[in-house]
Amino acid sequence: MEIPFAEAWKIKMIEPIRKSSREEREKWLKDANYNVFQLKADQVYIDCLTDSGTGAMSDRQWAALMMGDESYAGARSFYELKDTITEITGFEFVIPTHQGRAAENVLFSYLVKAGDIVPGNSHFDTTKGHIESRKAFAVDCTVDIAKDTQLEAPFKGNVDIKKLEKVLSENADKIPFIIVTITNNTAGGQPVSMENLREVKKIADKYGKRVIFDSARFAENAYFIKMREEGYKDKTIKEICREMFSYADGMTMSAKKDGLVNMGGFIATRWEDWYEGAKAFVIPFEGYLTYGGMNGRDMAALAVGLKENTEFDMLETRIHQLEFLASLLDEYGIPYQRPVGGHAVFIDASKVLTKIPKEEFPAQTLTVELYKEAGIRGCEIGYILADRDPVTRENRFGGLDFVRLAIPRRTYTDNHMKVIAAALKNVYDRRNEITRGVEIVWEAELMRHFTVKLRPLS
Ligand code: F0G
Repeated sequence: MEIPFAEAWKIKMIEPIRKSSREEREKWLKDANYNVFQLKADQVYIDCLTDSGTGAMSDRQWAALMMGDESYAGARSFYELKDTITEITGFEFVIPTHQGRAAENVLFSYLVKAGDIVPGNSHFDTTKGHIESRKAFAVDCTVDIAKDTQLEAPFKGNVDIKKLEKVLSENADKIPFIIVTITNNTAGGQPVSMENLREVKKIADKYGKRVIFDSARFAENAYFIKMREEGYKDKTIKEICREMFSYADGMTMSAKKDGLVNMGGFIATRWEDWYEGAKAFVIPFEGYLTYGGMNGRDMAALAVGLKENTEFDMLETRIHQLEFLASLLDEYGIPYQRPVGGHAVFIDASKVLTKIPKEEFPAQTLTVELYKEAGIRGCEIGYILADRDPVTRENRFGGLDFVRLAIPRRTYTDNHMKVIAAALKNVYDRRNEITRGVEIVWEAELMRHFTVKLRPLS
């Protein structure tokens, strides 16, 4: 008999979680104005709101915490972190920050001016926010196949090279850098191929531009390259990472994902001028150069996390769990962005709740139904998150309407995946009885999804 697959770790510490009754959940949801961000975590059974900062650290990381050096300047833990980052990426200059968006804030304060254009593949919300708040423009050059959720393709996170070249040829003087997000979160945790990274670099060189990787899930991206791209199957994850980063000039990193820590981030670059420029902003915004918003102990745990998560076995365990969940959804016929991405399944709500018009927010309705069904908290990445057009103030219905079920790293077991899939199946089976969605009662002007108040329609 073939030996089945199992996790590359065992469990040393557990955290109890609590089930609830449908009656309780209906009350809690009403109190939360049908916005799952407003729920208390204790009201959630399985939390798939995000994979950011929600993973479990290893015994080695907890041990490293005890060894953290809390010196204000020149801490040993900083040098451990810096050496690890240099080893994985080849970048010599490292600036810690308190999380990913802080890395964006510091680096973009130096690099982005009003009127600039920053092309890339599906900029993450905060990345876009840090560009737009400087009165610059984020231009999305993602490949069109990312929009076809049922199409199976290995690298749906790629940059469309033709779109990128068009932006560069028309606006070269306004472009401070190109940003490539690996993996492409917004398109469904979809990877970017090595070939694509190489082509981006070639075009960037042609126009004399530098390239930044938004690297929150770079290790998952490397895993997909190993498994899906010709020529990489015999390479180690660390070798693949070195090659990926050889096509970039710098990176912003949210360490809360592939760094396997609960809080942290950094900027790394090969260029001294970028380092010098960013230095002027990290000190007032974040902290001194060798801690920039992080405790010594957190830098120590991050150094270990980065080493662990660039090992094949760790990533294989991770992605295997996502693939297991996706295989159950396949069995039940539930449509999601295919193939499943590295950190989440993205349910295509418009293909599930077909009776609900977009004006009644199908993905948000499905998020609410899934919570009611089994206390599972997903996250709407759809029409509510898309906000309104800043000029016309109309809802932006042009994109996709997903429920993202993000899976924290090393936190839940495959049994939890079975619960998630079964709850989805129950909602899916009664999809035709769900004919009304939700309406907005109150919303903030920007980033409304965090605080929006909703009412179910009947
Ligand atoms: N870049 C990407 C691709 C991200 O997914 C995130 C965060 C950030 C940057 C910002 O990093 O949260 O450390 O400030 N994504 C989380 C998510 C919040 O749920 O996808 P941060």
